[in-house]
This record gives sequence, structure tokens and C-alpha cells, in this order.
Amino acid sequence: MLSPSPHATPDREPAMNEFQLYNQIRAASMFADTFQRVQPVQGFLNPLEGFALFLLAAEGDGVGEVVEIGSFMGLSTCWLAAGSRSAGREKITAIDHFKGSPEHQKGGTHEIEAIVREGSTYQAFLNNLRGVGVHGWVQPIVAGSERAAADWKKPIRLLFIDGDHSYEASKKDFEVWSPHIVPNGLIAFHDVGPWEGVTRFYQELAQNAGGKWRECLAMQSLRVIQRIA
Ligand SMILES: C[S@@+](CC[C@H](N)C(=O)[O-])C[C@H]1O[C@@H](n2cnc3c(N)ncnc32)[C@H](O)[C@@H]1O
Repeated sequence: MLSPSPHATPDREPAMNEFQLYNQIRAASMFADTFQRVQPVQGFLNPLEGFALFLLAAEGDGVGEVVEIGSFMGLSTCWLAAGSRSAGREKITAIDHFKGSPEHQKGGTHEIEAIVREGSTYQAFLNNLRGVGVHGWVQPIVAGSERAAADWKKPIRLLFIDGDHSYEASKKDFEVWSPHIVPNGLIAFHDVGPWEGVTRFYQELAQNAGGKWRECLAMQSLRVIQRIA
């Protein structure tokens, strides 16, 4: 039989309790496992941002749907779906017209072969979800953000905005989707910093959101705000 472990050596208090310690080790293991599975998926999200989405989908506050605007080939979708599934929570609604953003078109700054060849990333998106094994945890809506929002009725606990990165589109995405966010629900913006349009909109929002939203995470290019209950 194993002897009980001492909780601390006499000259050192533990920095975290055992529950927190084993949770961190579990989280590291889930990161490594998911990172390996999503590695073949082409996309615009670094692994730490992906894991932040995983944890928000698994542990984030509020009751409601998880919605993504801008799925591309499914990289962020896979991280969100893996997280929500690990905690037995909601499926992910993935919204994209799958025609690519302006920069993905022929001659654009981030020209994408599938867009130039087929005019869509939808087939690659479906193949990638199957490859990663999360296809049962994602409901795609093939439509533009504004069109999809016009038909949307359900409360949302986590919204990830990564569609058109222009100032006007970022503002529009926020305007049409934020009314659905539940108290304590979250909105995560991607590419704040590297992309001028999203960054300008986010800074404007941060200045005017007092009393309604608070920033709860700033990590790499992710900014997460929470609706004040
Ligand atoms: C930067 S990519 C998303 C990257 C993706 N989240 C990832 O993890 O790789 C932007 C995506 O937004 C989509 N998009 C652009 N404008 C949109 C709009 N108005 N409504 C919905 N999707 C849009 C594009 O088709 C493209 O797939």
C-alpha cells in the first residue's frame, strides 16, 4: 500500500492545492492530445489560442450555445468542439459562407489554393472535422454572418468572432450577435493586434463598454469580454 503523501515539505507551503495541481497536469495532457490531432488542419490560429478556446468551451461561464463566426478549414472549430465535448457540453455552431475573406482570394495577401481552385473551403472543413473526429460535435451553417444572425433565436454562452476582419464587418458581427449573449457569457475576438480593422473596433468597444462588458482575457491576439450580469 502507498503511504499518504505529505502535502508540503516543512519549509515550503504548496502554491496550489492538490485539485488545482492535478487539473493543471490534466490540462497539459489534453493540450498535447488535441494539438497532435489538429496538427494536419490548415488555419489561422496558434496552438495556445486554440487551447484557450478549448478551455473556454469546456469551462466557460453561462448556459447557452457556442457559436463561431469564420470557420475556414475548421482549425478553431476543432479546438472548440474538442473542448466542449471533453466536458459533455454543447455542440459548436460553425458559421461561414466558406468563400474566404478578401485576403484569401486570388492575388490576395493570404491567397488560399482551395478558394482559387474550388471557390470554397467547405469540403476541406468537413474532411478536417472527420479527420480530427469531432464532426459529430459541430453543426455548420453555410451562410454569411449577418444572414445567419437574422434567423438566430437561441441564447449564446460563447461566441468566437473570426470572420471578415475589416472594421465594418467586426462592428457588424458584434452588433448582430451580441444581443444573444447570456449574462456572464463570453465573446472572444481573434487577431486583435495583427489586423487593423478588428483592432480598431475592439479598442473602440473597450472604451465604450463600461458597465456592460468587462475584458477577462488578453492573450496573444485573443481578447475575451464577458457580459456583466
Ligand atoms: C481568418 S479565416 C478564419 C480562420 C479560422 N477561424 C481558423 O481557425 O483557421 C476567416 C473566415 O471568415 C469567413 N468569412 C468572411 N466573411 C464572412 C462573413 N461575412 N460571414 C461569415 N464568414 C465570413 C471566410 O470565409 C473565412 O473562412
